Amino acid sequence: MTVRLKPGISFHMNTLTAAYTPKKWSLAGLQGISDATLEMHFGLYEGYVKNVNLLNERLAGIRAAGKAAGADPAYAELVRRLGFEYNGMRLHEYYFDNMTTQPGEIGTGKLYNALGETYGGFDEWKKDFVAVGGMRGIGWAIAYYDLANGRITNSWINDHENGHLAGFVPLVVLDVWEHAFIKDYKPADRGKYIEAFFANIDWRRCETRLPQSGNGVTGKVTPT
Ligand SMILES: [Fe+2]
Repeated sequence: MTVRLKPGISFHMNTLTAAYTPKKWSLAGLQGISDATLEMHFGLYEGYVKNVNLLNERLAGIRAAGKAAGADPAYAELVRRLGFEYNGMRLHEYYFDNMTTQPGEIGTGKLYNALGETYGGFDEWKKDFVAVGGMRGIGWAIAYYDLANGRITNSWINDHENGHLAGFVPLVVLDVWEHAFIKDYKPADRGKYIEAFFANIDWRRCETRLPQSGNGVTGKVTPT
């Protein structure tokens, strides 16, 4: 697609931006998270994908016109906004990916051991993860894997973009914005929503996010 900015200035969109396509999930019938919540939530997610594409198009146009300037507040705000929209898109993909209508037990295995080794047991890891998810504010709870030493850290993310641990791999990703549960639970009952989330976790999918020794594959959103 060729975009013409003004006479003499044009660019091929595909050379500067690669549009993202919203993913789809079949999660109807989750335990404790209603289909109505999911439908609303999928719509919000698609909004992030749309805004990522719009932002990239606008920034590509500015750059193609030679107008990119850090001192320009309009340009700077667009660039900052990318962090919000990109993470809003990607975190929702991790979140929906790590839930399933057919959850299995976690009681052994590589992920179970990795979580337990850092926190002194799986139950201790879960207790801490639930505590992080219960923090006041809107954001995300993420169990992150540190490639440097194999340790896991439960981290709080403000909004979508503040608090990420550089180079760490997300293993378990929980949305605790109120839109994720307000149709099903009162704001004060976020703990019930978090327990519902645990009942639906796709532990096998989470385990595939662990680095595979030797092949360098880490943190894929949707393993193939
Ligand atoms: Fe969300």
